[in-house]
Amino acid sequence: MAVIGKDIDAAVSVLKAGDLVGIPTETVYGLAGNALDVEVVLKIFEVKQRPAFDPLIVHIGNRDALHSFVPDLNRKAEKLADHFWPGPMTLILPKNSLIPDVVTSGLATVAIRMPDHPLTLRLLNLIDFPLAAPSANPFGYVSPTSAHHVADQLGDKIAYILDGGKCPVGIESTIIGFDGDETVIHRLGGKSVEEIESLVGAVRINRSSTSRPTAPGMLESHYAPGDKKVYLGRWEQYKDLLDASATVMIRFKSPDPDFPETRQALLSERGDLHEAARNLFTTLRRFDIPGISYIIAELMPEEGFGRAINDRLRRAASHK
Ligand code: TXA
Ligand code: MG
Repeated sequence: MAVIGKDIDAAVSVLKAGDLVGIPTETVYGLAGNALDVEVVLKIFEVKQRPAFDPLIVHIGNRDALHSFVPDLNRKAEKLADHFWPGPMTLILPKNSLIPDVVTSGLATVAIRMPDHPLTLRLLNLIDFPLAAPSANPFGYVSPTSAHHVADQLGDKIAYILDGGKCPVGIESTIIGFDGDETVIHRLGGKSVEEIESLVGAVRINRSSTSRPTAPGMLESHYAPGDKKVYLGRWEQYKDLLDASATVMIRFKSPDPDFPETRQALLSERGDLHEAARNLFTTLRRFDIPGISYIIAELMPEEGFGRAINDRLRRAASHK
């Protein structure tokens, strides 16, 4: 079983030996390894059971490292990195040959970000390679927001989990790419559309997928908790369809008056979308237990973090 601890030197040793470490970030925990070592990167895909067509994010510890892997930066990317790094934003940019093709699933671009977590920033600055790290969950499952979430599912496959506490943002980074002059959001996340637009002007939101354009929609059912079926809306809409005793509800700030209160989780009683994001994945995991078959989730207001939360809920609800 993985050791869970706060020992950065231990994490450095494991990484230098070519093994994987669970790392905390402000968004979710990552399953990290040396991004420049093909064998290590293959290990990440294997442990996560991730299909080879789904590329990884490369994590760097300082702004200068960006220039080591990206041959030329456009002005908007430069501005975004200056303002929002370290932070919950990933940039998709042309890569040079130092980044192995397995990392990017053969794409000519690399997804890169500087995470905002003190332990992981220290770690990154103690090693001389960047860290490839997908979220530290088995492919298709809910992302982990605590060291114990990582241990629950990947504990028998990795040696060390660096414990940085509960992730303060709680949903994954916003992924931003560029199409000529246009800024494109490929995944809504920890930096809101409003914040990004206030810096670089209007953006286009790519609704199809966060992944390779050649595989649109393949990742739709991401974020589903186990075999539970997620529905969107109120109890009233489902009362003739679902067994109430096997149903729970996830709500924003107040319970659904038509359903037993004890079977409802509120994401933020004070109506704070940041708090709601922080609680979302923990709540989905909490409901992944026997006896529960259905989760009815209320959509958040479609603004700020609400959009990113709704994106996860819609994907969780898109069962095939
Ligand atoms: O907050 C986060 O971004 C977390 C933490 C650990 O940093 N990481 C994370 O990684 O969510 P992951 O692997 O679960 O999601 C990365 C997404 C994938 O959907 C992948 O398809 C997309 O980024 N991606 C990676 N490289 C890409 C590229 N070159 N072009 C388009 N999409 C890319
Ligand atoms: Mg993921």
